[in-house]
Amino acid sequence: MLEGHHYFTIDDELGFLEKRTGVAVYDFAFEQFFSCKHPLEPAAIPTVARVGAPKDYAEWHSILNELGITLIHTPEEQLRCTTLAKWYPLIKELTPRSELFENFPSIATIEACFDYPFFMKGSRQTNRHQAALSVIRDRAQLENALAVYRSDPVLHWQEVVCRELMSLRPITGGVEGKVPASFEFRTFWWHGEFVGAGPYWFEADPYDWNETEQQEALEIAKIAAHKIACPFVAIDVAQCEDGRWIVIECNDGQESGYAGASPSALWQNVLAAARRRTEPPDFSR
Ligand SMILES: Nc1ncnc2c1ncn2[C@@H]1O[C@H](COP(=O)(O)OP(=O)(O)O)[C@@H](O)[C@H]1O
Ligand SMILES: [Mg+2]
Repeated sequence: MLEGHHYFTIDDELGFLEKRTGVAVYDFAFEQFFSCKHPLEPAAIPTVARVGAPKDYAEWHSILNELGITLIHTPEEQLRCTTLAKWYPLIKELTPRSELFENFPSIATIEACFDYPFFMKGSRQTNRHQAALSVIRDRAQLENALAVYRSDPVLHWQEVVCRELMSLRPITGGVEGKVPASFEFRTFWWHGEFVGAGPYWFEADPYDWNETEQQEALEIAKIAAHKIACPFVAIDVAQCEDGRWIVIECNDGQESGYAGASPSALWQNVLAAARRRTEPPDFSR
C-alpha cells in the first residue's frame, strides 16, 4: 500500500484511504467510532479518500486504480465539485454573480465587470480567508491584492475569480484580519442525500440554526447538490441580511473539513445511505 496511508473498510460497504493531515477539523479517528477491517488487498468497493486535497486528483485516481482502489469520484466529478469554473454554471441562480478570469486580469478588466466593493478569491479557495485579499474596497487595495495573487503560494496557481459582494448576516467572534464571520453552514450530501451539517465558522462564537432556518438552508443546498450531481459533496450556504440563503461554495466531501458537523454522525449517515443504495429493495414488507 502507499507509504503513510492507511486503507480500511467499514461494514464491507465503503473503503477508506486515510492519511492524517494534522488539521483538527479534517482528521477523524475512525477506529474509535467504527469497526474497521484491514484487508491485505483492497476490497472491490468504492473508496473515500481522506488525505487532504491531492495536488493532481486525476493522477492520484489512476495510481490508486492500479492498486485496485476505486475512489468515489472520477477525475471529472472531482473537478466539477471543486472548481468554480465547473460548478458555477450549474448553480448560477443560487450563488453570487461571479467572473472567472482565465488569464491573469488587469485592473481595467476587473473594473469593467465589478463596482467596488467586490469579493475576490482563487478559483478553488482564498488564502486562509484573509480579508485584505478578498473583500476589495478600492483600486489601491485591488492593485495590492493582484500583486499578491501573482506570487502567493496558495493563490498564484489558481485562476482569479471576482464575485458580487453579498451582505451576509453577521455573527460575533470572527478573527481579526479575516473575512467577517457570517451565519454560514457546511452541508454534506451523499448521492444527493443529506448526511450532515454544522456551523462553518467553528472559530467564531457558537451559533446554530433554528428549524425554519435549517429547512430553508437545506432546500437551497439540496438543489445545488442535485445539480452538481457528484457522489459526495460539501455545499456551504450562508444567510444574507435580507434572510435569503445562498450557496457560497461547493467542494469534494473527500477534501472537506467537517467544520462544526459531527464526523461520527456524518459517517454513520454516509454508511447507512451507501447501504440503502447497494441493498436490493425488500418487497416483502
Ligand atoms: N460573494 C461573497 N460575498 C460576501 N462574502 C463572501 C462571498 N464569498 C465568500 N464570502 C465569505 O468569505 C468566506 C470565504 O470564502 P470562500 O469562497 O468560502 O473561500 P474558501 O474557499 O477559502 O473557504 C466565506 O465563508 C464567506 O463568509
Ligand atoms: Mg469556504
